[in-house]
Amino acid sequence: MIKAVIFDLDGVIVSTDELHYQAWKKMAQEEGIDFNREQNERCRGVSRMESLEVVLEKSKQEYTPDQKHKLAEKKNLLYKELLKQLSPADILPGAKETVTELKKRLVRVAIGSSSKNARPILEKIEMLEEFDAIADGNDISKGKPDPEVFLIAARRCNVEPENCLVVEDAEAGVSAALNGNMKVLAVGSAADDPRANLKAETLKQISVDELLAL
Ligand code: BG6
Ligand code: MG
Repeated sequence: MIKAVIFDLDGVIVSTDELHYQAWKKMAQEEGIDFNREQNERCRGVSRMESLEVVLEKSKQEYTPDQKHKLAEKKNLLYKELLKQLSPADILPGAKETVTELKKRLVRVAIGSSSKNARPILEKIEMLEEFDAIADGNDISKGKPDPEVFLIAARRCNVEPENCLVVEDAEAGVSAALNGNMKVLAVGSAADDPRANLKAETLKQISVDELLAL
């Protein structure tokens, strides 16, 4: 029985793909490194430092750990500048309605995100108060596909992992949910993942009855 639904944030609740892309692209350009949208796709769901490794793939230079942290910090400053334009209009189709309906049915709702910017993003889209629990990039030592972020969210909801459903748009996130012994609805870029218990293009295409029937 599903007692909690844990939503990934980027690509599930809100569309931030383009903003991540623009920020990485600008940082890469300043370093003289090529970066394209296919690489940006591979940054989906993984931590900032792991994303940086994808960005640095085409670099001819070797970077020290300290230089890498500075580059990640630079990207984050560019990204935070872009986040200023985020608004409730960037909420993905069906996301808000699904959260509202789950709460009406007394199902717990949580965020399980790799992002360290999860709270300011939720604030910008006016959804910070909607969730019973938030677990994000600031809470974890192991990123997806490790289930840590979802297990923390489940614990904060007081619900056992087997009674949780995760909504994810990234391959690493689908793995994380399954590794945590949770059910998973794959959306967006992950919508053709054969491992998912349910698949949908967006949350608009799926009813809360279907979610809770899992
Ligand atoms: C995930 C995104 O939600 O958060 C990744 O899908 C991103 O692309 C990761 O790298 C970390 O985000 P942030 O905001 O902490 O840099
Ligand atoms: Mg995501």
